Amino acid sequence: MLEDIKSVLISEKELEDKISELGARISKDYCGKNLLVLSVLKGASVFMSDIIRKITIPIQIDFMAASSYGKGTATSGSVKIIKDLDIDVSGFDILIVEDILDSGVTLSNLIKVLESRSPKSVSVCTLLSKPSRRKVEVPVRYEGFVVPDEFVVGYGLDYAEYYRNLPFIGILKEEIYS
Ligand code: IMP
Ligand code: MG
Repeated sequence: MLEDIKSVLISEKELEDKISELGARISKDYCGKNLLVLSVLKGASVFMSDIIRKITIPIQIDFMAASSYGKGTATSGSVKIIKDLDIDVSGFDILIVEDILDSGVTLSNLIKVLESRSPKSVSVCTLLSKPSRRKVEVPVRYEGFVVPDEFVVGYGLDYAEYYRNLPFIGILKEEIYS
């Protein structure tokens, strides 16, 4: 697996430090609120499992799945909900935890769907952001790292469903996907 990686973009230590910092901010900002931390499968699952353990207030968690890229490295433009929530969100402040905000299509659609269910609020926490590729503006409350316009894998992020288990964020060699 490691031979397919061109370089390490964000190390395990950098991820750990940033996630502790975000967890502390979230714990402070949502103190006294009814927080539902919502993760988008599968990419955000690793980030989700680490960040919830840095949140020190009582929370509930849930998962949704939305399709986006298939096997390619560019967005298809449409988003389909594959797995929906199991609970009524009307009493909750929702924090969506995402792996990467790229075109913004996935998240902006998800926010619309959730807002139509009248939660108290909907905010976004994304580990990575590629602002150069944004097509739709998405309000982001918590952002881990801004990354360049390169295809990144690891720490939950995949290429064709592989590399999710790398413990760092790496840049994939172009010959792997071209
Ligand atoms: P968006 O709808 O274009 O913002 O796409 C967001 C989704 O695309 C993310 O949740 C990822 O699953 C996937 N994605 C976007 N860029 C990358 C990347 O560089 N590596 C791996 N997955 C990516
Ligand atoms: Mg994702």
